[in-house]
Amino acid sequence: MRLFVTKPINVLMAEASDSGNTLKRTLGAGNLVALGIGAIIGAGLFVRTADAAAQNAGPSVVIGFIIASIGCAFAGLCYAEFASMIPIAGSAYTYSYATMGEFIAWIIGWDLVLEYAVGAATVAISWSQYFNKLLEIFGLRVPYEWCHSPFEKLHDAAGHVTNQGIMNIPALCIVFILTLLLIRGMQESALVNAIIVVLKVAIVIVVICFGWEYIRPENHTPFIPANSTYVDPQGVAHHFGGLLGILGAAGVVFFAFIGFDAVSTAAQETKNPKRDMPIGILGSLIICTILYILFSYVLTGVASVHDFRTQGKEASVVYAIEHMSGSMIGGVWVPAYKWLSDLVTIAILLGFSSVILVMLMGQSRVFYSMSKDGLVPPVFSKVHPKFKTPYKSNWIFLILVGAFSAFIPEDIVGDMTSIGTLFAFMLVCAGVWIMRKKHPDIKRGFRVPAVGLVSILGILVCGAMVFGLGWTNWARLIGWLLIGFIIYFSYSRFHSKVRHPDEYPPGTSPHAVPEEVPPLI
Ligand code: ALA
Repeated sequence: MRLFVTKPINVLMAEASDSGNTLKRTLGAGNLVALGIGAIIGAGLFVRTADAAAQNAGPSVVIGFIIASIGCAFAGLCYAEFASMIPIAGSAYTYSYATMGEFIAWIIGWDLVLEYAVGAATVAISWSQYFNKLLEIFGLRVPYEWCHSPFEKLHDAAGHVTNQGIMNIPALCIVFILTLLLIRGMQESALVNAIIVVLKVAIVIVVICFGWEYIRPENHTPFIPANSTYVDPQGVAHHFGGLLGILGAAGVVFFAFIGFDAVSTAAQETKNPKRDMPIGILGSLIICTILYILFSYVLTGVASVHDFRTQGKEASVVYAIEHMSGSMIGGVWVPAYKWLSDLVTIAILLGFSSVILVMLMGQSRVFYSMSKDGLVPPVFSKVHPKFKTPYKSNWIFLILVGAFSAFIPEDIVGDMTSIGTLFAFMLVCAGVWIMRKKHPDIKRGFRVPAVGLVSILGILVCGAMVFGLGWTNWARLIGWLLIGFIIYFSYSRFHSKVRHPDEYPPGTSPHAVPEEVPPLI
């Protein structure tokens, strides 16, 4: 069945310089680091850190961040080599098409929908939590049922259900607004993103500095809680404490690192991808890792695990700031740093917006490439005549992302995003090594040092996090992949252009392109 047919690298290169339906090259290294940080710092830090502390690891979520960053560093090196070698839109999908063949490429492309589209939905739901905090500044609030999914319930102290979600309208609205911005074009989006990135990093640093002196040693004791089981309000049991708790936390907060690879999806819009891609990917990863370790240490120091399981469950950072210092006046708690929590609320809302934007962009770019290859319908590569963006794809994903945002709880979509991305990272780590073995002569702008070791360690560390996420998430990943197989075997393999080379535009057929680089098949 030729399931493992590979896409020739000379065809990839020809497509990158094709003057027809292409994207504009406007981005430099600085833009890419900003794009990376724009995608990286978001709900993973400001929402899922508290989730992981409450459900998995308490203060040892800090160690979870370190493990997640190690996995990302290995995968990031592999991404950087691929991006410097195959500077074309599509990220892990494109790389695997050239190395491991069509079927694996399909699995990765399909899997990346979890990373980008479902990830965007996760951040949109988190956005909705902080949006309510913003409204509270003005004495307003979206009613519980209109800012939660139907699977979420509110309980009173006696455990009775007092309210139930219907749909998350604020999450849906932010996805809609950002889709419109994205359709307007890359240049505008990158500028808006750069402004937000500066604000977001500044706020993270300010929270670390202010919070440090309010760390209570009792919240950090014991730093690694003993093994136990925590059953969340939805009735789902989580392994809490010990090594398994830390691995589970690493899988949850891994979400906070997702996005540095989204940089590679912009390779086709980058002026000098060979030099700028590694800088963009690894630079943004290093900056964020340092900030995360410090931030999670402070957050788990100023509020307790109990807080994060109860009143501090939603908009946890604002909760922590408002409770780290203050006084009781007339029986009412008055926070000492109300101004800071208000400022942080606004910054987080803007920060989340930039993350959603980059993820929506990454999603449409991956499907752009898949559509060019015939694996998904042509509508996904239809470029807007004026804005040069894949606008029809953006509209279609608005429906999918909007549905997930409105009707599924944050922790479920967040964990699906983490596990899907971890799986894709494992395949990329394998792919870079396969490529070195099969085609050592292809020119690479950046080479992974000790590639065999880095690939294996990347696979092991990411695999450990997949393990830590537990069987419910493994089942969801398998279910998602099965849906993907059905689409592949019923549509994609019949429309694949690599299998039907005559359908390539003139001059770009695998059989007609002059061989500037060694062909892969
Ligand atoms: N890393 C991104 C976030 O944490 C996806 O929101």
